[in-house]
Amino acid sequence: MPAVEVSRLLKGAPPVGKRQTLDEYRAAGGYEALRKGLGMTPEQITQAVIDSGVRGRGGAGFPAGRKWTFVPKNTGKPVYLAVNGDESEPGCFKDRQIMERVPHLLIEGAILACRAIGAQTAYIYVRGEYPSCIGNLEAAVEEARAAGILGSDVLGSGWRCDVWVHSGAGAYICGEETGMLSSIEGGRGYPRIKPPFPAVEGLWRSPTIINNVETIANVTLIVRDGADAWKSAGDADTPGTRLVGISGHVVRPCHVEIDPAKTTLRELIYDHAGGIWKGRKLKAVIPGGSSVPVLPATQIDVPFTYGAVKAAGSLAGAAGVIVMDDTTCMVDALLNLMEFYHHESCGQCTPCREGTGWLEKLVRRIWSGGGKPEDIALLDRVADTVGGAGAGKTICFLADSAVMPTKSFLKHFRADFERAVAEGGSPVWKARASRRKPAAHAGAR
Ligand SMILES: Cc1cc2nc3c(=O)[nH]c(=O)nc-3n(C[C@H](O)[C@H](O)[C@H](O)COP(=O)(O)O)c2cc1C
Ligand code: SF4
Repeated sequence: MPAVEVSRLLKGAPPVGKRQTLDEYRAAGGYEALRKGLGMTPEQITQAVIDSGVRGRGGAGFPAGRKWTFVPKNTGKPVYLAVNGDESEPGCFKDRQIMERVPHLLIEGAILACRAIGAQTAYIYVRGEYPSCIGNLEAAVEEARAAGILGSDVLGSGWRCDVWVHSGAGAYICGEETGMLSSIEGGRGYPRIKPPFPAVEGLWRSPTIINNVETIANVTLIVRDGADAWKSAGDADTPGTRLVGISGHVVRPCHVEIDPAKTTLRELIYDHAGGIWKGRKLKAVIPGGSSVPVLPATQIDVPFTYGAVKAAGSLAGAAGVIVMDDTTCMVDALLNLMEFYHHESCGQCTPCREGTGWLEKLVRRIWSGGGKPEDIALLDRVADTVGGAGAGKTICFLADSAVMPTKSFLKHFRADFERAVAEGGSPVWKARASRRKPAAHAGAR
């Protein structure tokens, strides 16, 4: 069956690197959803989002409409919307397509979401390493202000709403929702203990709804087309389309918008991304960004819905499909990930600050030829000790994000670790070591 690409969020989007202007967006019906939404009550907009069943596209898949109902009424405090465009997870680059190419779709969704939750200010927090997204969003915000779409009198309704683009701080942890709030407030991107949840106490201790870029962009389409039409893509578990990024050892790294119920992981890899590069075979795939469990090649015949990928043993997460070919040493691949998580730990919680370091050290030891047979079980045990936002051991899920890959790499690819122990290191390390001068520091990457 040929690869089927759906075009909803990216319908009419200019090529990568360019942005749809306000005139172009309006010519294609842009801001009609806002006009419609201004004639609806906040409750009606929220109900449409609840009826759509849209689940948060930032990773956890929490129903957006339900989250919005958690905002307490009549607190006397302002309410805020914070749109999460930090997108710093390895393998993820789908939100970039929206921010860079169709920024007005996101701005329109943000205004509608503000209207629904009783906010008049939205912040769009954009990954600092995405200058084109920041520039294009800022230009779009200026256009919207000049056209009376943002500001003190939104489309002549007498209602005030504004959107501010906030540059990210170059740290993965600033994408964790409460880390992002700390960063917007001008502090370090330190996550905060929950409860209180941001919907009750977020920015400047006021109620704040946090949603991913793709989630908010979908709000425009839900209000414009109605929940039923929006739900015509996907299934009951994962309604709507999904934007997916595919990278790694594929012929054609790409992003694609798909119907998740009608597209399997295999189709994403072989049809959309052209298959495995250099005529090689697939060894492993991480389906949802670097934080989720890895799957072996035998597990890819599943639709890309939250439920189906979970049943296969991983998570669809933030839809960053990372593909590894059959020449990949999984010890090398895991070391790469553990360096990242150790480096990005904010250091507030001991199990994460120390544990991600232990994980990195242990994997490096095995990788660089110093591993003992018992190190593999030790790695597994340390991983068990580190994880734990759910168990109340850590403030946020970064620690678990290091644990899930570790445990799944050991589960599916233990042989690679055993071989590295038995044969004096990973093939990658041995190849590098053979090129190094004798005095070079053993174990250096
Ligand atoms: C370490 C870490 C990094 C995260 N990075 C992002 C990110 O870049 N973008 C994002 O939308 N969500 C990210 N999340 C998830 C957010 O905390 C939050 O769940 C999400 O923004 C909520 O939006 P949604 O309900 O629309 O998915 C991250 C979570 C963790 C633990
Ligand atoms: S789990 Fe890690 S990243 Fe999250 S708050 Fe604790 S130390 Fe920071």
